[in-house]
Amino acid sequence: MTYPIHMTVTPHVSAFFDEATNTISYIVSEPDGDHCAIIDSVLDIDYAAGRITYDSADALIAEVARRDLKLDWIIETHVHADHLSAAPYIQEKLGGKIGVGDKITVVQDTFGKVFNAGTEFQRDGSQFDALFKDGDTYVIGGMQGFAIATPGHTPACMVHVIGDACFVGDTLFMPDGGSARADFPGGDAGVLYDSIQKVLALPDEMRLFMCHDYGPNGRDIKWETTVAEEKAHNIHVGGGKTREDFIKFRTERDATLDMPKLIIPSLQVNMRAGEVPQDEDGNEMLKVPLNQL
Ligand SMILES: [Fe+2]
Repeated sequence: MTYPIHMTVTPHVSAFFDEATNTISYIVSEPDGDHCAIIDSVLDIDYAAGRITYDSADALIAEVARRDLKLDWIIETHVHADHLSAAPYIQEKLGGKIGVGDKITVVQDTFGKVFNAGTEFQRDGSQFDALFKDGDTYVIGGMQGFAIATPGHTPACMVHVIGDACFVGDTLFMPDGGSARADFPGGDAGVLYDSIQKVLALPDEMRLFMCHDYGPNGRDIKWETTVAEEKAHNIHVGGGKTREDFIKFRTERDATLDMPKLIIPSLQVNMRAGEVPQDEDGNEMLKVPLNQL
């Protein structure tokens, strides 16, 4: 696959860090225009109380309004397991199309079963406005973006490239953070390694923006690096580590990890493009399947 790379286009990128889930959401906008996209928004939840709030989403909406931007796209890099998406809430306020990778159907099939979602839950991705395939392009005003299929962490993972800015989702973390786990249903460490190589094959000076950072070894939170930095220094895949090294390390490491705190609410909401499921009386309601994850 040859991707339509435009390194001379340098979009403006605003980052919003969510302390509750260590997620970074982005507004990416034209360098000399007023169109933008939002990538990986966060819906706030107090899971113990069963209460949803909108502070994080409202901060994104306020910034788009303050700068008088037009929102063309609301992009999910994947079905997140650690936070809920605010995509429908943002769409209601600002418009824009919600897009995700076309392998969402695989994720919907897997977790539709886990959550016994019933026949009203379509497994065809129709909850989203656009399903991206590897190499698909789209426009944000006068800028072009494209998607790179990067399965491994989850089947529907996509990296998005807009000019010289690349939003890596959960394929990579900062060089000292390494990579994301590959042990969720549909995950695969070898496939993740191959996907990471697609990102590392982008131009050295491409700006990379992380979806998560946990500030390893007590350092401050960071979210921006470059392809050159990752190739040289990433602790899991940089400096010439082999596919076999990676699979061994990743598999052993994943066996020690607890499930993300919000995986149960996150999957149920995010597999529906951010819509909270409802019971037969129309009340918003989540399920907790026991001993399945
Ligand atoms: Fe993730």
